Amino acid sequence: MANYSKPDSWALRAQREGYPARSVYKLSELNEQFRLLHPRGASTSRILDLGAAPGSWSLYVLRHIGQACQLTACDLSPLSRVHGKGLFDRDNFFFIQGDMTDEATQAAILERAPYHVVISDAAPATMGSRSIDTLRSLALAETALFYAETALTTGGNFAVKVFQGGDTITLLKRLREIFTSAKSFKPKACRRESFETYYLGLGKK
Ligand SMILES: C[S@@+](CC[C@H](N)C(=O)[O-])C[C@H]1O[C@@H](n2cnc3c(N)ncnc32)[C@H](O)[C@@H]1O
Repeated sequence: MANYSKPDSWALRAQREGYPARSVYKLSELNEQFRLLHPRGASTSRILDLGAAPGSWSLYVLRHIGQACQLTACDLSPLSRVHGKGLFDRDNFFFIQGDMTDEATQAAILERAPYHVVISDAAPATMGSRSIDTLRSLALAETALFYAETALTTGGNFAVKVFQGGDTITLLKRLREIFTSAKSFKPKACRRESFETYYLGLGKK
């Protein structure tokens, strides 16, 4: 059984670098490998971060792209404002606390469209049943894909977390139809025993 309460080297690095969660190194690797946050042709970036709490991915975007981006983030839970050190209070950041699958939240997210990049690290609270967890993760990934299909600009990039298993192949096939390039990638910071991975769609057609 994995011991998630013991901080590993990624968690210790996140603490040192002032991020609330180790997940930041998944986004940094996706960005370094695929220029995820820098889609071709976009000088300023409008970015949507789904499943954003406690806020590491948002903080990475704000620290690395700064004022050149307009970032909208959404989560059921609040962000860790103490880690934000004021960045979450700036004009180029907007947080929507709500369920990304419900209508009011959807309207608030789409009101701020279009986006050049949509990233989703949203994950269900796990139940310990792989089949149920996978189904719920797939439903969130499909919701993220809805936002990418509806609100991404041509040329825009997309990354979404999925739990492997279930019908994730269909999701990848849809990404291949919508994007110039689509692939699955598991960053080094994913726990070895975890069955999560990320699907990327680069360059919306
Ligand atoms: C792994 S955490 C995200 C970590 C985040 N990327 C970071 O770096 O701090 C997954 C998040 O998905 C959120 N989530 C799950 N279902 C959601 C939903 N229906 N709408 C919005 N957020 C959701 C959870 O509340 C949780 O904060």
